[in-house]
Amino acid sequence: MIKRKLNKIAKDTNLFLKRFISKQKKSNLMVAMKYGLFSGGKKIRSKILIDVGSLFNLDYKTLIIIGASVECIHSYSLIHDDLPCMDDDSIRRGKPSAHIKFGEATAVLAGNSLLTMAFEILSHKDLRINEKTKMDLINKISESSGHLGIAGGQYLDLNYERKKISKKKIEEMEIKKTGKLFSFCCAAPLIIKKKNKSDIKKFENIGADIGLLFQVADDLIDYKGSLLVAGKKTGKDKKKGKATLISLLGYKNTIKYANILLKKINNKLKRYEPKSKSLSETLNYILNRNK
Ligand code: IPE
Ligand code: IPE
Ligand code: MG
Ligand code: MG
Ligand code: MG
Repeated sequence: MIKRKLNKIAKDTNLFLKRFISKQKKSNLMVAMKYGLFSGGKKIRSKILIDVGSLFNLDYKTLIIIGASVECIHSYSLIHDDLPCMDDDSIRRGKPSAHIKFGEATAVLAGNSLLTMAFEILSHKDLRINEKTKMDLINKISESSGHLGIAGGQYLDLNYERKKISKKKIEEMEIKKTGKLFSFCCAAPLIIKKKNKSDIKKFENIGADIGLLFQVADDLIDYKGSLLVAGKKTGKDKKKGKATLISLLGYKNTIKYANILLKKINNKLKRYEPKSKSLSETLNYILNRNK
């Protein structure tokens, strides 16, 4: 059921992105950008955006476009995450990582171009929402990607390697590198609906928790999963001495932690029942997936 929904979202997102790119002039970086974008990927962030959007009766097509911008940033972050100066991973989504296929310089530049493509998409006239709202969305997604979001979190992730790091600091790092983009996905529908600041903040916090849950599940997959299923090498966090909740609390306690976190998120969503059913289904999938 959820797989079918994810596939539909992936299809619609990729179609939008292909059309968007085909309207631009050709460049030498395009092949590497498309490789990063269309090499697979679950589109889980878009799914969360659509699930939250449905709580507020937002139009599916608008959400697909905003989700496409998020997927551009996500794909950029993966290309850079795999670079030798970061996690040094050669396989991504079951295929050679972008820098293995195209070389490091091309991978860096294609990554940069995917990051900025997100802003091109959000500022484009075909996205039919008013300009003030667009500015708010661009402001929020920028914040999620920079030093207070993905980039800052990735810095901490690398800086924490082979060090003893507290639980609080690990959570903070995981929320920055992964949670903030989920915060954007959860806040965007409320920004479009012009909800008040405190409601937007509430959903940003729910997003941070969902992103944390997602990253903890990713860490669990690294610990227990296999290359063939996950589409990326596993057992690497331990080898690199990554600071994760698993390295701090152990595997079983981390599973307990994740289940408590899931309950906490579901409690915050209780007042949106039964509309939040699809979102809850996505959250269960996040924790129980194997890729
Ligand atoms: C992997 O993200 C990187 C993390 C933030 C944990 P995904 O698991 O969403 O990657 P794809 O897009 O499905 O390959
Ligand atoms: C990546 O976390 C987080 C990003 C923001 C890219 P990981 O380094 O654990 O992701 P994988 O396991 O390589 O996909
Ligand atoms: Mg990493
Ligand atoms: Mg990695
Ligand atoms: Mg990982």
